[in-house]
Amino acid sequence: MSKKIRFAVLGLGRLGYWHAENLSQRVKDAELVAVVDPMEGRAEQVARELGVAKWSKNPVEIMEDPNIDAIAIVTPTSTHAEMITLAANHQKHIFTEKPITQTLQEADKVIEAIRQNKVLCQVGFMRRFDPSYVEAKRRIEAGDIGQPLYFKGMTRDGGTPPPEFIKHSGGLYLDFSIHDYDTARFFMGAEVTSVTALGSVVHNQYVAEFNDVDQALTYLTFDSGAAADIEASRNAYYGYDIRAEIIGTEGAIHVGGSMQHHDVKILKNNGATYNIIPDFPTSFKCLSL
Ligand SMILES: NC(=O)c1ccc[n+]([C@@H]2O[C@H](COP(=O)([O-])OP(=O)(O)OC[C@H]3O[C@@H](n4cnc5c(N)ncnc54)[C@H](O)[C@@H]3O)[C@@H](O)[C@H]2O)c1
Repeated sequence: MSKKIRFAVLGLGRLGYWHAENLSQRVKDAELVAVVDPMEGRAEQVARELGVAKWSKNPVEIMEDPNIDAIAIVTPTSTHAEMITLAANHQKHIFTEKPITQTLQEADKVIEAIRQNKVLCQVGFMRRFDPSYVEAKRRIEAGDIGQPLYFKGMTRDGGTPPPEFIKHSGGLYLDFSIHDYDTARFFMGAEVTSVTALGSVVHNQYVAEFNDVDQALTYLTFDSGAAADIEASRNAYYGYDIRAEIIGTEGAIHVGGSMQHHDVKILKNNGATYNIIPDFPTSFKCLSL
């Protein structure tokens, strides 16, 4: 009988609770053995809810536990570099939410720590596991659209996070467009050679306090000669709208756009309606169920 991977989850906020729930209830080869959050009472509350034996406010205490094999890091982005380095130096395997770090210099350092300690580290780019994206990638590799020439990506969300999140997020490009930058490289099978970006605050004035924007456009060129444009918006008050287009020499692939929760339309004599995906947890939940 193979051994289950014993996980601790660090950070039990908006997304961390959900990772903890998945690891304790849905991931069959994993066992959730500890949860950590410095917020008073949070770790104990989640541990009791999910039936987890160990909880702490202190990540180091958990890292020192030899009964833990792997750490899921779902803490604010500004803490990722420190938490990944700590986990690697304690020989724990790592799943970290995106982005890996806030700067390239920090990224180089954590990659070095991961290599030196010979641990595995996966970054949470979930679109690579989304069935529609997997199928698009398979079709590109099968040559169905010829040579990829242009990528168009879009991430729009209306659930603007609170100021405390924005402050530690690294800004719209790093926090949000990073999914499309990753998807662009995934689909184009090429490396980025130049980046041009523009952004504005069109509605959420408070993000300006953190030198951030709520609407942005990035233009990328690739070493294959291909190019891409990527829109990011925190102003989609109608729902969670994620799209990708890949244009090739012999065709194109479109992913997303319908935003339908289930492929069910309600037809009435005054028009047709369907349910829109309201936010990212709902979107991912409908993938995993
Ligand atoms: N893949 C995605 O689409 C996606 C979506 C949302 C968030 N994220 C990423 O997940 C991370 C967390 O985002 P969130 O929205 O859950 O944030 P959040 O602010 O809701 O929660 C963060 C939690 O971490 C706790 N924390 C802070 N420092 C800690 C430490 N050192 N050890 C343990 N816990 C600590 C805080 O008390 C808080 O409860 C961010 O890096 C974000 O970019 C990814």
